[in-house]
Amino acid sequence: MAANVNAAALDESPIPEPVQKQQKQTIDPYNVSGEVGEDGVVKAIDYNKLVDEFGTKKIDDELLARFERVTGKRPHHFLRRGIVFSHRDFELILDRYERGEPFFLYTGRGPSSDSVHVGHTIPFEFTKWLQDTFDMPLIIMLTDDEKYLFSEKRTVEEVQGYCNSNSKDIIAIGFDPAKTFIFSDFDYVGGAFYRNIVRLSKHITLNQARAIFGFNESSNIGRIHFGSVQGATSWASSFPHIFGEDETKTVGIPALIPCAIDQDPYFRMTRDVSARLKFQGKPYAKPSLIHSLFLPALQGPGTKMSASIDESAIFMKDTPNQIKNKINKFAFSGGKVSVEEHRNLGGDTSVDVAFQYLRFFLEDDEELERIRVSYEKGEMLTGELKAICIKELQTYVAAFQERRAKVDDATVKEFMERRPLKWGGNPRATIV
Ligand code: TYM
Ligand code: TRP
Repeated sequence: MAANVNAAALDESPIPEPVQKQQKQTIDPYNVSGEVGEDGVVKAIDYNKLVDEFGTKKIDDELLARFERVTGKRPHHFLRRGIVFSHRDFELILDRYERGEPFFLYTGRGPSSDSVHVGHTIPFEFTKWLQDTFDMPLIIMLTDDEKYLFSEKRTVEEVQGYCNSNSKDIIAIGFDPAKTFIFSDFDYVGGAFYRNIVRLSKHITLNQARAIFGFNESSNIGRIHFGSVQGATSWASSFPHIFGEDETKTVGIPALIPCAIDQDPYFRMTRDVSARLKFQGKPYAKPSLIHSLFLPALQGPGTKMSASIDESAIFMKDTPNQIKNKINKFAFSGGKVSVEEHRNLGGDTSVDVAFQYLRFFLEDDEELERIRVSYEKGEMLTGELKAICIKELQTYVAAFQERRAKVDDATVKEFMERRPLKWGGNPRATIV
């Protein structure tokens, strides 16, 4: 992994500069790119290879069957379709749920622009579904500090402004305020959280941080330290107002972290440190993870949709017309160059961005299968496929915007208030 990290790209360049020479697949919190072939063309991200390299496990049918038995709920279409495809110790969370033992959900967002894009809604939609399924507390971290440290241009005030608009976007996904705490690092660092940040940072050497994230001698020291902030949020004892003051009890409560797989390096590091830490003889729980694929950039499956690159993304604030124009103009097509050739040979759904978006957003399994078969046979043309995708995304974004319009500053304040949370779908899952 370490060898793949392109340190020069640390200043946020998720879509790589045109590269002449071959380059390995690179996936970390700061870069997402498939392998670049000799021809300079970026290949689709190879997620199986990533599972091997990162040492995670694929979510298989057996795990899904167990999930259904334990929760009584049919797996979400992200799970059924392999969009949420990989995990670390998810089965331990199911064990705990079965036994009525506590855990919590944790996810986050780096406020890098004033609107989230449709890709960001993937982990958040999935997290909401997990919150509804498990009825457990949820912590959402806004890494304003990270987005300041990892950009040459942004000011502190700017990222703080994005925090406010991004938390409205997140709330509009539909989280339950009784069970959800949202915080920004600039506001929340201190007290129990800061003690945990320092405990974590003490156990990571500069060499380890370099190997995991690819820092170099010129990296600012804030960047080098930041992983301990994102990591320490995985520990329940960072949130005494939710889990109680008694650290001998809270250190053993694990997080389940839904995220896209680029965030895994932070938590690989946190899991290693958790295994070495104890509080008065009680071991720290390692966080469990459940990883999703990236929603591809409009330009193709070689990289993720990114908020920092305007033409790569469909934003949740986009108008129906903007959505239509972006997909028609930019969405990479797996169709053939002429209608005649397309009718004869059919399209390639595995690289077609409009089809890939439908895999994420079209819930009807049969309809999706009908479209796949028809496009691959050449019956359906690219224009028709794009039209279906445009309609689906317009509907999804419009429904979101309607909910978003109702979220005001008072609602944000409510979610960000330090307060006890109430949950209890699993009635035995009380903390004390
Ligand atoms: P950020 O803001 O880059 O991304 C927020 C979440 O969205 C995921 N994501 C995507 N998922 C699918 N398709 C895409 N194209 C896509 N782009 C981004 C990210 O993996 C993430 O889950 N450092 C983090 C903030 C953070 C966090 C966390 C995220 C702090 N703690 C815990 C997940 C879990 C960040 O900058 O995310
Ligand atoms: N480059 C990514 C984006 O803009 C996110 C990113 C930048 C990031 N710096 C980071 C994610 C540090 C985690 C940690 O979408």
